[in-house]
Amino acid sequence: MAETKKTATKTTAARSAKTTEKTGAKRVAAKKTAKVAVKDEIEAVVSAKKSILFVASEANPFIGTGGLADVIGSLPKAIAESKAYDVRVVLPLYGEIELKYREKFKFLCNFNVPLSWRNQYCGLFAYKYEGVTYYFIDNEYYFKRKGLYGHYDDGERFAFFSKAVLEMMHNIDYYPEILHCHDWQSALAVIYLKTVFAEGYGYDHIKALFTIHNIEYQGKFGNEVLGDLFGLPDYCREYLEYDGCINLMKGAMQLAERFSTVSRKYASEIKNPFFAHGLEYMTTSNDYKLTGILNGIDEDVYNPETDTKLFANYSAEKPENKAVCKRELQKMLDLPEKENTPLIAIISRLVAQKGLDLVKCVLDELMSEDVQLVILGTGDIEYQDYFKDAENRYSFKCKTIIAYNKDLASKIYSGADIFLMPSKHEPCGLSQMIACRYGAIPVVRETGGLADSITPHNNDFRRGGNGFSFKNYNAHEMLYVLKDAIYTYGNKEEWAGIVKNAMTTDFSWKKSAGEYIKLYDNMMI
Ligand code: GLC
Repeated sequence: MAETKKTATKTTAARSAKTTEKTGAKRVAAKKTAKVAVKDEIEAVVSAKKSILFVASEANPFIGTGGLADVIGSLPKAIAESKAYDVRVVLPLYGEIELKYREKFKFLCNFNVPLSWRNQYCGLFAYKYEGVTYYFIDNEYYFKRKGLYGHYDDGERFAFFSKAVLEMMHNIDYYPEILHCHDWQSALAVIYLKTVFAEGYGYDHIKALFTIHNIEYQGKFGNEVLGDLFGLPDYCREYLEYDGCINLMKGAMQLAERFSTVSRKYASEIKNPFFAHGLEYMTTSNDYKLTGILNGIDEDVYNPETDTKLFANYSAEKPENKAVCKRELQKMLDLPEKENTPLIAIISRLVAQKGLDLVKCVLDELMSEDVQLVILGTGDIEYQDYFKDAENRYSFKCKTIIAYNKDLASKIYSGADIFLMPSKHEPCGLSQMIACRYGAIPVVRETGGLADSITPHNNDFRRGGNGFSFKNYNAHEMLYVLKDAIYTYGNKEEWAGIVKNAMTTDFSWKKSAGEYIKLYDNMMI
């Protein structure tokens, strides 16, 4: 197999040599100038430091569809602030990235990316933002489309992206110490690095860390894609094949030096078939490489004291204006302006993972209480229709907004008293942390990051908590705890204590960034 590996490396090297020949002297000269420019502008300051390259399919503020974008938009910054490492991030240059950002991106160079029998154009752009260098991989055929995912050729799009990340390195003469890849869309970057690029000059010392944000989405494809689409030699089949198909997440878990997930609890849960979506054999047999690190949130972005999207600002010390936010939200949504009626919010992707079936099961019982319910999110049509119908049935108590809207989300977090998040499984979850920051008290199921971030007030002592929680995936267990929260809300003094705890819980990246730094340090020993 070593023989095959070498041949594969040679073939890759030969291919890139051919590509360079084709581009001609002009481009080589341009590339050299670009290299110098990149070195001058970006590397000079940080050249002494060891470098981490994040590879991901979305990052705030440029482009995002969920929690991954929050993490990639804030963790690199936190690591860069610690000054321990030079941190860079590489993303696809989607056509949907707003012009106000795109016009600031600087063109560095272009090169070709071989992908099996294809040879595709790749433009490379860079932008330094809040201490972090962002690279953008450009190919309009793959990325100038509506929406980030869900296209028939997602496998090819992200194979191109992953391969381009590795080709980028020798084109700009930048080889990080650690390649930190996230979710299946960048799993192939680990796989290429540890197979066909493994012995290449510059690549041979790079260590790979693969972070799983949700084990449900694994990047599964038919067996035929290995050679024809991903351009991988046959010996790679043993790394990628699982359960009769090609599984990119499995390949990255196996080939990366280490892999991690986004809370401790989830790291232990994914060894259990209920949570592992078929990958339990991989998680248990590679247990020695697995770490769980809880995500943080960007406390500058999610700050009720400065958030300009709110009707009024407030803080843990001066929470009075939260009442203004609630009243204005009720007005805006055409709900009766009742100060003492608890307003419950759900802000979520409307999918089964989020435990919405539990809510459906007891909605009528819940609505028989003196409460208001606001739902914001998009997702499966089944849930969208259900909650729209609930709005019609309880028009003076329930509002459903089918949208992904950050502005409205902030207004709802600030106006809500209770934040319901009864997920069936939740790798980390960021909304419960954001809700805490805005003084909306989370009611959560004890799973994954929800269990690691929410301390229940409904314990024996009824003090010290920042939320409420229940254990089993059971609708009436949820309703029982939710009612506890509703009645506790009636006791203003007790409630104010919980709000204070929630608003002052440290959800910053400081601690978790420190844990990642320790992990990187360990990987380099
Ligand atoms: C995924 C997970 C979510 C996590 C986020 C960021 O969206 O479902 O729990 O918070 O990734 O890691």
